[in-house]
Amino acid sequence: MEKKKSPETLRSARWFAPDDLRAFGHRSRAMQMGYAPEEWKGRPVIAILNTWSDAQPCHMHFKSRVDDVKRGVLMAGGFPMELPALSLSESFLKPTTMLYRNMLAMDAEELLRGHPVDGVVLMGGCDKTTPGLLLGATSMGLPTIYLPAGPMLRGNWKGKTLGSGSDAWKYWDERRAGKISDEDWVDVEAGIARSYGTCMTMGTASTMTAIAESIGMTLSGASSIPAADAGHIRMASACGRRIVEMVWEDLTPQKIQTRKAFENAITVAMAMGCSTNAIIHLIAQARRAGQDIGLDDFETASRKVPVIANVRPSGDKYLMEDFFYAGGLPGLMSRIRPHLHLDAMTVTGRTLGDNIARAEVYNDDVIRNLENPIYAEGALAVLRGNLAPDGCVIKPSACEPRFLKHSGPALVFDDYPAMKKAVDDPDLDVTADHVMILRNAGPQGGPGMPEWGMLPIPTKLVRQGVRDMVRLSDARMSGTSYGACILHVAPESCIGGPLALVKNGDRITLDVAARTINLDVPEAELAKRRAEWKPPETRYERGYGWMFTRHIRQANEGCDFDFLETGFGAPVGEPSI
Ligand code: FES
Ligand code: MG
Repeated sequence: MEKKKSPETLRSARWFAPDDLRAFGHRSRAMQMGYAPEEWKGRPVIAILNTWSDAQPCHMHFKSRVDDVKRGVLMAGGFPMELPALSLSESFLKPTTMLYRNMLAMDAEELLRGHPVDGVVLMGGCDKTTPGLLLGATSMGLPTIYLPAGPMLRGNWKGKTLGSGSDAWKYWDERRAGKISDEDWVDVEAGIARSYGTCMTMGTASTMTAIAESIGMTLSGASSIPAADAGHIRMASACGRRIVEMVWEDLTPQKIQTRKAFENAITVAMAMGCSTNAIIHLIAQARRAGQDIGLDDFETASRKVPVIANVRPSGDKYLMEDFFYAGGLPGLMSRIRPHLHLDAMTVTGRTLGDNIARAEVYNDDVIRNLENPIYAEGALAVLRGNLAPDGCVIKPSACEPRFLKHSGPALVFDDYPAMKKAVDDPDLDVTADHVMILRNAGPQGGPGMPEWGMLPIPTKLVRQGVRDMVRLSDARMSGTSYGACILHVAPESCIGGPLALVKNGDRITLDVAARTINLDVPEAELAKRRAEWKPPETRYERGYGWMFTRHIRQANEGCDFDFLETGFGAPVGEPSI
């Protein structure tokens, strides 16, 4: 370890070291908590940002896991300071956690700025907690390690494997089709989430933690360890030990989160069959780090990196537990070595190439060879056209191939309740060729881009055996969702994007191979509709929602708040003490 910091130059020394009245206050209050000066003097203070809460089933184990992080910090000669952060429970928080991702980012940044800390272990995992914590820590810039919560165990029902999210949608359709009983349904409820930990499909949680690892912000292999595995406890204490060294080495996120690091993350995301949400969060994080990453970078990677992780919903059988046994993320990265920048620095103090030097794959069906992929191209495709001038996203690896080139009439809904009511109408005028549209569900319209993008197939069609159709919205969808869903249409309809101009029966044509999506309506007619268009009424007159709708960026820009972006205003200095 090359020491770049001395006890006197630690940030926390500003609080604790001076012989003045302020520092007297800080020291006496530390002693109030029962700590002797020997326990903090000259030691790095390590913040542990813990997103545990009683409303957060995915982070249930963080209540005790934080003690394992502290053990590591103490062993390495640091002084741990647990700071609770907003928990963002994907399961319970409404209307959508995405409304609050930036609030967690602000929470994380200001917790670090305001407290006497030198480095931080971030404890997150459930969907938006990963980007939320990392956005804030990136802007603050202290040495940072991310500790992912780890996926939960495989679901189980009548001996069949159940996958988070994916199987809820699947069996809900079976129930609507009258194929499973009410009693069976309760058993599915009991069997689908059997332990603490994050969703064990390749949803947003597994996607974002893998991204954190491939950017270099976690210890090697951290993102794949199941939450209930004893290895996860050891990983927690390893994070505690390593962050103390990182403070001495002054290994900050700026030295890790380079353009190459983000390109690695995009490459890994494609090979994993990632959640569509990855695009929004990665763009936001890259921008915080001062890197200009956009939709085109995903498009480039998508053309050359195939999906090799056979994990649902892109894959057909396996879940994150299987992925871990097959070699986990280091195993997967060893398969795509030619596509990675192996010289990228990581929190281990070594390069990505060093971290995966010994990595292997133990099951070629779970983590495929490049020659035998799940899907020949990357997981996501970015489409553009007169309907989405700033782009939209589809996950072709998780939809029926016949929809990759499709033309059909529009069936438009202006809000979720109207759509929900209509889909149960047995006389709804709809065919499997229709393009179902939901609008006013974007960053401002939702607000917060709820995960409504996998619109339910109308019951009438479900009874006919239809299980997929083209759906289009400015919303997001859960990473565990699947189907021919086109999402993140930008600009969104609420601010007058072209999606706002579509009428029932208009023909919409998409061609995924050509990366296009168009509304087949003459420009003169569209101009007329544009002139007649009225924006929806403002929803918030006060509070967080009011601030949100004024400052939120569009999906293709990462949905950050404008005033949080790195380029906004002068850098924020250290607090005066
Ligand atoms: Fe927490 Fe899926 S609900 S990760
Ligand atoms: Mg999710």
